[in-house]
Amino acid sequence: QTTYRADYRPPAFLIDTVELDFRLDPAATLVRARLAFRRNGPGPMRLDGQGLALLEARIDGAVLPEARLGLGADGSLTVADAPDSGMLETLVRIAPEKNTELSGLYTSGGNFYTQCEAEGFRRITFFPDRPDVMSRYTVTITADRARCPVMLSNGNPDGSGGNEDGTHWVRWIDPHPKPSYLFALVAGDLVDVHESFVTKSGRQVALNIWVRRGDEDRCGHAMDSLIRSMRWDEEVFGLEYDLDVFNIAAVSDFNMGAMENKGLNVFNTKYVLAKPETATDGDYQGIETVIAHEYFHNWTGNRVTCRDWFQLSLKEGLTVFRDQEFSADQGSRAVKRIRDVRGLRAAQFPEDAGPMAHPVRPDSYIEIDNFYTPTVYQKGAEVVRLIHTRIGAAAFRRGMDLYIARCDNRAVTIEDFVAAMQEASGVDLSGFMGWYDQAGTPELTMEDRYEPEARRWVLTLRQAVPPTPGQPDKHPVAIPVAMGLLDAGGAELPTRLAGENEAKPGTRLLMLEAAEQSFTFEDVAAPPVPSLLRGFSAPVKLKGVSQDRLRFLAVHDTDPFVRWESGLQYATALMLQMVAARQRGEAPGFDPALEEAVRNTLRGAEADPAFAAEALSLPGEGFVADQMEVADPAAVHAVREGLRREIGRRCGDVLRATYDALAEAGEYRVDGRSIGRRALRNACLAYLVAAGETGLAEAQYAAAGNMTDRLAALSLLADAEGPAREGPLADFHARWRGDDLVLDKWFSIQAMSSRADTPAAIRTLYAHPDFDLRNPNRARSLIGAFASGNPLHFHAEDGEGYRFLADAVIALDPINGSIAARLVGPLGQWRRQAPGRAALMRRELERVLAVPKLSKGTFEKASKALA
Ligand code: ARG
Ligand code: ZN
Repeated sequence: QTTYRADYRPPAFLIDTVELDFRLDPAATLVRARLAFRRNGPGPMRLDGQGLALLEARIDGAVLPEARLGLGADGSLTVADAPDSGMLETLVRIAPEKNTELSGLYTSGGNFYTQCEAEGFRRITFFPDRPDVMSRYTVTITADRARCPVMLSNGNPDGSGGNEDGTHWVRWIDPHPKPSYLFALVAGDLVDVHESFVTKSGRQVALNIWVRRGDEDRCGHAMDSLIRSMRWDEEVFGLEYDLDVFNIAAVSDFNMGAMENKGLNVFNTKYVLAKPETATDGDYQGIETVIAHEYFHNWTGNRVTCRDWFQLSLKEGLTVFRDQEFSADQGSRAVKRIRDVRGLRAAQFPEDAGPMAHPVRPDSYIEIDNFYTPTVYQKGAEVVRLIHTRIGAAAFRRGMDLYIARCDNRAVTIEDFVAAMQEASGVDLSGFMGWYDQAGTPELTMEDRYEPEARRWVLTLRQAVPPTPGQPDKHPVAIPVAMGLLDAGGAELPTRLAGENEAKPGTRLLMLEAAEQSFTFEDVAAPPVPSLLRGFSAPVKLKGVSQDRLRFLAVHDTDPFVRWESGLQYATALMLQMVAARQRGEAPGFDPALEEAVRNTLRGAEADPAFAAEALSLPGEGFVADQMEVADPAAVHAVREGLRREIGRRCGDVLRATYDALAEAGEYRVDGRSIGRRALRNACLAYLVAAGETGLAEAQYAAAGNMTDRLAALSLLADAEGPAREGPLADFHARWRGDDLVLDKWFSIQAMSSRADTPAAIRTLYAHPDFDLRNPNRARSLIGAFASGNPLHFHAEDGEGYRFLADAVIALDPINGSIAARLVGPLGQWRRQAPGRAALMRRELERVLAVPKLSKGTFEKASKALA
């Protein structure tokens, strides 16, 4: 059942061209495929398939007798005695309306959509469904004209026409060879919002966003983001779009965020539709990021693709890096970096420390769907960033040029990418391969000493990569440490390393390549304060920085990331002490430095409100619990709430003044500065409400002219008592019950409430008429939000949170195994919990595993979680 990276073999047959003929019908769609095949290596002709009813098979026109057709238990088709080349033709029947997995061809709201990555194409037709088989596709779609006025596929349109029987047809030709996972088809009653774009070499591109009637007024931001992405990729990487049309179709039933199918991206509506009344600033930013991400895949993923799924990060890590850089260029680079690091620590660090820990390039999998993970995506992007940091932007660009020139229209490996970077830069990058092949977050420890007589300062760095499942022993990796030195007054010092001729101003890069290395700095007049890992130059855990230094850096460092980070680490250490005190039964005191920090942040907030909002927010409960040997979610929650209340009380005057000063005047805008002002104002509101000023949130809820402010108020009120809570929640439901994406927020807010009755409320919401397990967004909005966003109640002492999650996973698995597998993850945290809760979690995992016919994906996650 397990697939191993080491077992890779080239395909026995290649397919040069594919002709697909669809006759769409929700209950019985016919798919005729004509594959021009050619032998490529040893082995039988084996075509992947899943749930396909085979009606006919021919080679070069001659019907294949049953005796030559082997149908495997997994649904695959083996053709005996296949010639070395020829035309294989199959006709199959599938039932899109019965496809609740949303993989392959399925219906949503009466329209047809596909999702083929990673292995969904085999649910449409028989094919060697692996990324190293690249073919040119011609697709003809026939359907009822009234039901499917719009019919789309990859590439450029190539004719259409009507039939006597009320059906019509269209043909699409994609001139670029591609793997089957990039195939797409969308058909139905859709309307489009359109624009056009002229590439730098003069190609006219028609841009279309296809949505349900009525959603046309919510596509502006997506379209604008697309145009900015296209321009940016030309300017920064010289990469131009390569077809005459670029289509995006939005669908409300979708397993992930979006999919980069060649010329026809399919998106979850969540990442397309936005207007100020319905979407938050976070939603707007999500749209910009995902639109950019999918667009950038056109080169990093589509033109240059992956040899096998173990190389997934080749396209995902690189493309996340590219979308991060794009977003950084749209607004505040520092705030973008802070948010990305926050996300990495919230999702990837725990994964790297848990039972599903795997390298950026995994060694094996049972279900590849389970490896679309924060490690492959976010850590993968960090590794690309390490290389970028090491060789610099100019060499990185040369490396990209070389990579694309060399690998265009090919299915390649991570070695091909690193080799291009190495050749273009002339820098030996072998030390970075460990980042791809070893799981676990490296720990970096610092120690320093000052030698007054010699005016010398010596920094010692040590690294250790912790053991992870299947990888007990680790090697050191290459860690670029961007750093600088400050004097006692907070001024940046020029630095000179032993052996260098002159001092350099500002940030410099130290390369830690061994387990331990010392760096000697000369001409240092007095003991300096080091600022390490500027911009988070490597995804590691830094240890050994004193609380005094953190407090100093939080105020004085020239690097905004380190300023934010130092405040965060200071507060984390403080909260851990407070949790320990609480566990001993002592009353935790209040550190006046926090009040000072809040006042200081608010004083300087005008310069960069978004940064101030980031600096104001305390470390999350999950992040703090992750730093403990044995997590204590209830104590962490109590400490954090206590701190919020205390800060709200002590700093009430300045918080209120800032809140009032930032009241939105004039038209609502979604530029970076406006978003930052709203974020800061809502951060102030949260503290004020924590200190008892519930009325302020009630007033904001009632008066809000946009979803950001409305939702910020509602999420605070969801923790309140009585009418302050019930009124707004009922109002929100009444107002938005017809809007899926907004209603998801209503579910999530209640799922994340800290109120004591939340575990019971979750069950009630699960039975609510608006709850629908089949819709992935809705399932995530309740089940996912609760299990991942409400540590307090998910880890309820009586195990009710775990029970709820297991019940939901068991109910969902037969409907959509891929979403069930994603949701089961939090039960794997049992190792960090106290023995009583750990036993309860294990019991639920066992209950999941006892279900007959469990999906491969859920089986893999639950069994690894338990192991
Ligand atoms: N390639 C898509 C993206 O990152 C995601 C596809 C996820 N597929 C899956 N089976 N989980 O843009
Ligand atoms: Zn992607």
